[in-house]
Amino acid sequence: MNLTLDPRAAESLLAFWADGGVDAMLLDEAVDRIAAGKFVAPAAPLRPAATVSPLRPAAAPRVDVGDAVAQARELATAAQDLDQLAVAIAAFEGCSLRQEGAATRAVFARGAPDAEVLVIGEGPGADEDRQGQPFVGRAGKLLDRMLGAAGLAERTFITNTVFWRPPGNRTPTAAEQAVCAPFVERAIMLVKPKMLLLVGGASAKAMLQKEEGILSLRGRWFEWRSADGQLELPAMPTLHPAFLLRQPAAKKRAWVDLMTLTERLDRAERPA
Ligand code: URA
Repeated sequence: MNLTLDPRAAESLLAFWADGGVDAMLLDEAVDRIAAGKFVAPAAPLRPAATVSPLRPAAAPRVDVGDAVAQARELATAAQDLDQLAVAIAAFEGCSLRQEGAATRAVFARGAPDAEVLVIGEGPGADEDRQGQPFVGRAGKLLDRMLGAAGLAERTFITNTVFWRPPGNRTPTAAEQAVCAPFVERAIMLVKPKMLLLVGGASAKAMLQKEEGILSLRGRWFEWRSADGQLELPAMPTLHPAFLLRQPAAKKRAWVDLMTLTERLDRAERPA
C-alpha cells in the first residue's frame, strides 16, 4: 500500500497526540518494563561513576534498594552546596532509571538557590532528558506561566522525585523514588525553603507517604518531615500541569492551590 500523508495533516496529527500526552514511539516487540525495573540483591557494593554514559547498557544492573539508599544518603550528606549535590547525583549509579530510561543525563534542578518555595515534580520527560533541566517541555511551560502569574517565578527552586527519565514517561516506582529521596531531602536542607509545592500525585504520595489520590490531597496543607525528623515544612500538593493540559477545566483548582500557597508564603518563616 502506498500511503502518502500531507505534511500539515501529519503535523496536526502529531500535535493531537502530543496534547494527549503521547510523546514516545513504541517498539514493534513488547518490552516487559516491570521485569526490567525489578531490584534484586546486590552482587557488589555500588561505585560512583565520574560521568553519566550517553550509551545505555543492554540490561539494567541489579541494585539492592537498601544499599542504594545508603549510598545516596552518604553522597547527599557530603554535598555542601547545590553544585556539589548536582555532581553527586550525576555520579550516583544506584537508581535503575539511569540505565533504563535516561537517554543522556541526570536532570536535577533549576531556579533560585535561595527560593522560598521548593517545587517537586514527578520525574523528567523527554524534553527534560534532552535539555538537562526539569519542567522545560509543554507541561513545564504551563507550570512557569502559572508560577509567574502567581508572582512566584523568582521565588521557586524546581526539582523532581527522580532525576532520570522513566521509560515511556511511566510513573516512577516507590523504589526509584526511595533511592533518589536522600538527594531531594538534601536539596531541601540546602535551599531551606519556607514551603514545598508537590506537583502531581506521584510527588505528593512519595513526599508525604500518603496513599490517597491527588484529587483528594490537592489544596490541603500537610507537614513534610525529613527522615531524621529534624526539619518540618508545610507542603501543598497540587495538580500536575501535564494533567491540566489534558483537562483545562481543572486549571481553576490548581490556581486556587497556588493562591492558598502564596497567601501563607508571606507569613511563613524560613527554617533555622
Ligand atoms: N513532569 C515532571 O513531573 N517533571 C518534569 O521535570 C517534567 C515533566
